[in-house]
Amino acid sequence: MTDTTAAQTERSLVLVKPDGYRRGLSGEVLRRIEAKGYTLVALAVVEPSRGQLEEHYAEHQGKPFYEPLLEFMSSGPVTAAIIEGQGCIPGFRSLAGATDPTAAAPGTIRGDHGRDWGLAVQQNIVHGSDSPESAAREIAIWFPAQG
Ligand code: RTP
Ligand code: MG
Repeated sequence: MTDTTAAQTERSLVLVKPDGYRRGLSGEVLRRIEAKGYTLVALAVVEPSRGQLEEHYAEHQGKPFYEPLLEFMSSGPVTAAIIEGQGCIPGFRSLAGATDPTAAAPGTIRGDHGRDWGLAVQQNIVHGSDSPESAAREIAIWFPAQG
C-alpha cells in the first residue's frame, strides 16, 4: 500500500558558515529557503564562541578535521536561522548538496557556489541539521530563547 502520510512540519537549524557570510551569500541561501516554501522562524548574525562551536560539533571531536573546522568556524560571523516546513530537515540538506562542494551537484547551494579552495571539504557555505534530534539540540545552542 502506498504511504500517503504527509511529511511532518518540523524545524531545522541552518548556518551560513563564515565563508558564505564573507562572500555575501547569506541572502542567496535565505532566498533558496524561501523559494522552497520554508518559513524563517528566527534569524541572527552571530560571532560564535568556542564553547558554542564545541557543542555544535561535539560529534566530530577527536576527528582529524575537528580543530581546523573549529578554527574556520571561528574566523568570522555566521548567519544562523531556524527554518520551518514539512520535511525541511532532509529538504534543506537536499538544497545544500553533498558535503564536498567539488562533488556537490549543480543546482545545489554547494554545487553552484562552492569548490575546493585548497581546504578540501571544509568551506562548504552552509550547515543544516541532519535529524529532528540534532535540530532540537542545535536550536538550543544558537537560539537559547527558542529551545
Ligand atoms: P554540516 O554538518 O556542516 O551540515 O555538514 P555535513 O553534515 O554535510 O558534514 P559533516 O560530516 O557533519 O561534517 C561537518 C563539517 O565538517 C567539515 N568537514 N571537513 N574531511 C574533512 O576535512 C571534513 N569533513 C567534514 C565540513 O565543513 C562539514 O560540513
Ligand atoms: Mg553534519
